[in-house]
Amino acid sequence: PSRQFFVGGNFKMNGTIDSIKSIISHLNDAKFDSNTEVVIAPPALYLLLAREHLRQGIEVAAQNVFDKPNGAFTGEISVAQLKDSNITWTLLGHSERRVILQESDQFVADKTKAALDGGVGVILCCGETLDQREANKTIDVVQAQLKAVADKVTDWSKIVVAYEPVWAIGTGKVASTEQAQEVHAAIRKFLKSAVSEEAAERTRIIYGGSVSEKNCRELAKAGDIDGFLVGGASLKPAFVEIINAKQ
Ligand code: G3H
Repeated sequence: PSRQFFVGGNFKMNGTIDSIKSIISHLNDAKFDSNTEVVIAPPALYLLLAREHLRQGIEVAAQNVFDKPNGAFTGEISVAQLKDSNITWTLLGHSERRVILQESDQFVADKTKAALDGGVGVILCCGETLDQREANKTIDVVQAQLKAVADKVTDWSKIVVAYEPVWAIGTGKVASTEQAQEVHAAIRKFLKSAVSEEAAERTRIIYGGSVSEKNCRELAKAGDIDGFLVGGASLKPAFVEIINAKQ
């Protein structure tokens, strides 16, 4: 099956008007020599700025969205507001939200369903902590995170799964190609049994955690790695090399 390579840039809580404009102008001028889908996720405050300055063909993602349509939810942003602003994707379930903000698998699943129902694509993050990996619970943890979504969502065509081992995020300790491939293959197998054969074949499963211009080409060779979710390196010019990892 041919799955279009997908590279996301998660700026996290970084950037200013000036620095984000400068990243965007670099992306606008860059030559993407692969047929890769590119999405950047700046902080909420800069979503509209990003959409306004980015060229067509590069999409913008929120880093989070709420599961209620509107109303008294101070500090939250709705799916309809993203749509209204031409923000076509959202990250959900990033480990920094699961761990620091205590988001549960259920809450992430509810938000995933709300986003998809409202026509916004979801980059659904999953991944184990170091303790969980050392206790051989990696596959169980990732499956439980995805099962919460599979219980609520049957159409996975607008979901990209991002496997991000927590111990690899922002640490410079990238998963080996074998470690990532093993989990990606397990995720695909899970999708086949819990969702459908079609979802298993078509869903992009991307890797995140200390991806750099140095390690991306090797990771991109693995059969079940369909792209990357890039944190730190997405703020740097080298992000373009990661976008072009699949030659
Ligand atoms: O969403 C991105 C991941 O958390 C990876 O971050 O590339 O800075 O390790 P990182």
